[in-house]
Amino acid sequence: MKKIALYAVATALVMGLCFTATSFANDKGPAEITLVSTIDAAKKAKPSVFPHAKHQETIACADCHHSKDDAGKQVAYVEGQKVEKCESCHNKGAGMTNKKLTTFKGAAHENCKGCHKKTDKALAKCAVCHPKK
Ligand code: HEC
Ligand code: HEC
Ligand code: HEC
Ligand code: HEC
Repeated sequence: MKKIALYAVATALVMGLCFTATSFANDKGPAEITLVSTIDAAKKAKPSVFPHAKHQETIACADCHHSKDDAGKQVAYVEGQKVEKCESCHNKGAGMTNKKLTTFKGAAHENCKGCHKKTDKALAKCAVCHPKK
């Protein structure tokens, strides 16, 4: 009996520690990311460079990250939420109604290129994100 009680306390402690660790983790993701479609990939891949950390200095997480509810509606980003790959929702099989947003390319061009265009036309040039090798 005593042993079982001890196990229960130990388990609770371990679980508590894990919970604390994850809730304080504040995962900002990688500093530099190479974005490339894998689900609806073009025949010739066109990867995009993405300085994630640099964007985080001036742009809110919520400007890029969000999630969706059971009805498939967009849900605004909340701090500490699980961050999923864009393409896990923005792909042709995910049943998105807005045609512009059914691929990673479409969603990324809307988000990334959209902001770049508004900021400075030079930033919207293909080679900014798809540098020639
Ligand atoms: C300018 C847009 C942008 C901003 C701002 C931004 N992110 Fe990201 N983040 C991305 C993109 C794009 C990816 C790569 C997603 C993918 O691979 O589909 C990413 C990836 C991540 C990942 C890794 C996800 C994974 O499993 O690969 C985490 C974690 C993350 N971001 C957290 C954050 C947090 C926290 C903030 C705010 C402090 C933030 N991001 C700000 C665009 C952004
Ligand atoms: C969990 C699912 C999910 C993930 C992950 C996701 N999206 Fe979305 N996104 C949606 C849904 C749902 C909508 C709303 C679609 C509509 O209104 O037709 C949306 C809308 C958008 C829009 C148009 C509205 C707006 O907010 O400007 C853009 C652009 C966009 N997403 C880009 C991205 C990018 C870039 C990423 C990755 C950093 C991403 N999405 C990750 C589900 C997701
Ligand atoms: C809300 C606005 C905004 C969004 C969204 C955004 N960017 Fe940017 N991006 C900027 C601004 C502003 C700069 C230039 C500022 C700087 O160089 O510090 C920039 C610079 C860049 C650069 C050039 C960096 C350099 O060192 O010259 C690349 C590459 C880039 N962004 C890719 C992306 C990609 C890919 C996405 C989408 C996943 C994205 N950006 C989304 C605003 C944005
Ligand atoms: C602000 C950044 C940005 C700019 C500017 C931009 N793109 Fe993209 N593009 C992306 C991102 C991010 C993706 C999705 C990830 C990837 O590259 O597959 C993408 C995807 C693509 C794809 C699909 C690649 C594949 O493998 O499925 C093509 C084709 C493409 N872009 C062409 C262009 C062309 C042409 C221009 C100029 C007219 C341009 N892009 C400008 C960021 C950008």
